[in-house]
Amino acid sequence: MVVTGKGGVGKTTVSAALALGFAARGERVMVLETSGAQVLPGLFGHPPSGYDVTVLVPQVSTLSITPRAALEDYVVQQIKFRRLYKMVFENRIMEPFIDAVPGLHDALQLGKVMDLEREQHDGHPTWDRIIVDAPATGHGLTMLGAAQAMMDMTRAGPMYDGLKQVHDVLADPARTGLVLVSIPEEMPVSETLDLWDRLGDAQAQVRMCVLNQMQPEVLPPSVWEAAAPVVRSISSAPIAEATDLLSQQIRHHTRQRAALARLDAH
Ligand SMILES: Nc1ncnc2c1ncn2[C@@H]1O[C@H](COP(=O)(O)OP(=O)(O)O)[C@@H](O)[C@H]1O
Ligand SMILES: [Mg+2]
Repeated sequence: MVVTGKGGVGKTTVSAALALGFAARGERVMVLETSGAQVLPGLFGHPPSGYDVTVLVPQVSTLSITPRAALEDYVVQQIKFRRLYKMVFENRIMEPFIDAVPGLHDALQLGKVMDLEREQHDGHPTWDRIIVDAPATGHGLTMLGAAQAMMDMTRAGPMYDGLKQVHDVLADPARTGLVLVSIPEEMPVSETLDLWDRLGDAQAQVRMCVLNQMQPEVLPPSVWEAAAPVVRSISSAPIAEATDLLSQQIRHHTRQRAALARLDAH
């Protein structure tokens, strides 16, 4: 499952919640952080562990895949010689070239996802479910399109074959599901609807849209509408302050409802 959305909407939080949900159903879950921020271990009281697997709770593990670590992993797997990797790729002259290849970073991270997908333990897949906490760039859409973008560039050869395998898994609704995360505010919802439009055929892969950070409605707006003039007529500073706060809350709830309605309409 690929969890997408803009930075700060709650992708990592939703990834963690989904992981716990799947684990409760008996699945062995791997959650992959791709932003390099390594937030997940901390949420479960563990120190960050980078490219190494951290068991968060029984059945749920995590690791952080940065493009750089994925590149090193890939190259060392191919040439089996870490010193050569360091000589060529950790070289100030080479670095700008590596960073300039469009889609390379995302494709490398996806390559690592594929390795984990194929990983076996005692004749069974090690992971029943892999949750990818996608990078915020382009809402994660650039990551989904990365394999295709790189395929267009490489055309043929061993790299092309690897990318094609990644692309085939990512584009298969039976194997890859998408989760869109948003918050109940006008702009984020507009951006989510824009992402939905740009998904095209991949819309069929959307399993869930999460409207994170919804606040419970304490008071129906109609009740407040009737009560507000009466409360406002009381001349008391604390009551005036409380009234303002409540008004703000009610306006927030109205925006929440509008956000939900806009998403529901799709
Ligand atoms: N439903 C929620 N209620 C309260 N705080 C939340 C909720 N979802 C996310 N947060 C907080 O908002 C911040 C951003 O969430 P995070 O999951 O890290 O977003 P992202 O991964 O999309 O950048 C974090 O501090 C997180 O604890
Ligand atoms: Mg995050």
